[in-house]
Amino acid sequence: MKIFLDTADVQQIQEAWSWGIIDGVTTNPTHVSKTGRPPGEVYREICAIVDGPISLETIGLKAEEILSEGRELAKIHKNVVVKVVNTKEGLKAVKQLVAEGIRTNVTVTFSPLQALLAAKVGANYISPFVGRLDAVGHVGMDLARQIKTIYDNYGFKTEIIVAAVRHPLHVLETALAGAHICTMSFDVLKQLYDHPLTDLGIEMFLKDWSKVGHECPG
Ligand code: E4P
Repeated sequence: MKIFLDTADVQQIQEAWSWGIIDGVTTNPTHVSKTGRPPGEVYREICAIVDGPISLETIGLKAEEILSEGRELAKIHKNVVVKVVNTKEGLKAVKQLVAEGIRTNVTVTFSPLQALLAAKVGANYISPFVGRLDAVGHVGMDLARQIKTIYDNYGFKTEIIVAAVRHPLHVLETALAGAHICTMSFDVLKQLYDHPLTDLGIEMFLKDWSKVGHECPG
C-alpha cells in the first residue's frame, strides 16, 4: 500500500519524506489556505521535495475552468496530478485532461456510483472521504471496500486513495481492504510508528544490557 501525506505544510512534507515511507502528497484548498502562502510557491517547493504523485486541486466548477486550471497546474512539474471535484462538470473535464495525458484525482467522493463514473472517464485516482462519512453516522470504510469490489469486477485501473483519514485504524482498514493508497495527516503518520510495548521492550533490553557492563560488540 502506498502512503501519501495529506497536507500543504512544506516542513512536514520535508520531514516525512526523509523517513523514507511516503510515496506522494495530496493537497486541497483548505491545506493551502492554512499555510498563508502563495499557492504557486508552495506547490513548487513540494514538487522539489517529493518524487511521487502530487495532487493539486482545481477551484473552478465549470468544465472549461477546470480544464484551463488543470493545464496550468500540470505545467508546474511532471509529478503533478490534477485534483478535480466529483461532479458532472468535473468528470467532463477529467475525460479531456486524461485525453491530453494529464493525470487526475477525482475528489470529494461519497458514493460508489460516483466512483464508477470517475473510473469510466479514465480518472487515474479516486478519493473517497471515509472520515467525513464516519462523522455523519456511516461506516466510511464501506465506501472504499465497495469501490474496490466494483473496480476489481470490471478491471478499472483507477487507483483508490482512501482520504479524510482520522486515525491509525483507518490506515489498517485501508490496507486490509486492499485499496492502493492511504493519504493521511502528519499526526496520523507519526502514530503508525508507535507501540507502548516497543518502548517497554527497548527499555528492558537497555536495562539488561547495562548489567553486562560492556560496550556493544563490533
Ligand atoms: C484528500 O485528498 C483530502 O485532501 C482530505 O483527505 C480531505 O479530508 P478532510 O479535510 O476531511 O481531512
